[in-house]
Amino acid sequence: MTIQQRHFVNTQDESFETLSRILERAAILKKTRQDPQALKGKSVALIFFNPSLRTRSSMQVAVYALGGLAVPMEAGKDTWPMEWADGVVMDQAAVEHIKDATKVLSRYFQAVGVRSFPDGRDWNEDRLDPVIQAFTRYSDVPIINLESALYHPCQAMADLQTLLEKLGPLKEKKVTLTWAYHPKALPMAVPNSFALATSRFAMDLTIACPPGFDLAPEILDQIRANAREGGGRFRVVHDMAEGAEDAEALYAKSWGSLAFYGRQAEGQAAKEKFKAWRVTPDLMRRTAKGIFMHCLPIRRNVIADDEVVDSPASVIYDQAENRLWAQKAILLDLLSA
Ligand code: CP
Repeated sequence: MTIQQRHFVNTQDESFETLSRILERAAILKKTRQDPQALKGKSVALIFFNPSLRTRSSMQVAVYALGGLAVPMEAGKDTWPMEWADGVVMDQAAVEHIKDATKVLSRYFQAVGVRSFPDGRDWNEDRLDPVIQAFTRYSDVPIINLESALYHPCQAMADLQTLLEKLGPLKEKKVTLTWAYHPKALPMAVPNSFALATSRFAMDLTIACPPGFDLAPEILDQIRANAREGGGRFRVVHDMAEGAEDAEALYAKSWGSLAFYGRQAEGQAAKEKFKAWRVTPDLMRRTAKGIFMHCLPIRRNVIADDEVVDSPASVIYDQAENRLWAQKAILLDLLSA
């Protein structure tokens, strides 16, 4: 694979050596505060189909710190509304096909970052991650996934970096990803990527979620295979307290139910009985004095109580900071020849 064709879309596509190299580099960059100017004269486009605080600003700062130029664009506002499906008659709102946009961007930029998570209407469509896949299909430069329908690999790398900082070597460390109540059906990109990434590093991973809120079967299969091949452990439990027991890290995140995908109102009614799935000080006391993690933004006192979010155990701002260091390392891995 040439450097121009390499993308960063899903940690599953990367070797263990590549993930380890990126984590090592991110830690060195953070420690030394010495940014190599490897992106001098290079430009990175950042296309956002959705809002963002952390991803957008940390990517812009990362590119700038490495000597490059980042050009953020809000899709459909700074750009023309885009079509991703091949062969469609473009007589609706979309004015430009991703094929053409990507080919043009490839002439101006050395990499393109894309945020493209869906509004959750059609699982059969979203499970194929169509927007990010269209970008990778047509791009002549690396595509960096800034959160798609299925994956948020930059967040996962920052989360791994945070776990390493707080817990030390990851092997056999007990980490729990717990579902939490949220008034909306949120995408599965963060939980998918967190579980896929941690299961590569021989951790003892638990996913706690209510019945009917399991991650997609194909993702669970990959997590199981990762744990088997990497020497880790993996289980799913349907009780929040059981999941939190003895955890060294408790990662809270909400996601929608596949059973109600695209049926927001029905899904909402079905999950009302799980409103107590909220991280409280009592729940944290069940952990092994564990750290509290969340990718942000967080709905305080819905996902987790203020006492947890603001407690010394909370590492949410370290996770957010590590987006910067992890993404610098990803950019260097992709773009410094
Ligand atoms: N965690 C994360 O991706 O944050 P933003 O949505 O603000 O970019």
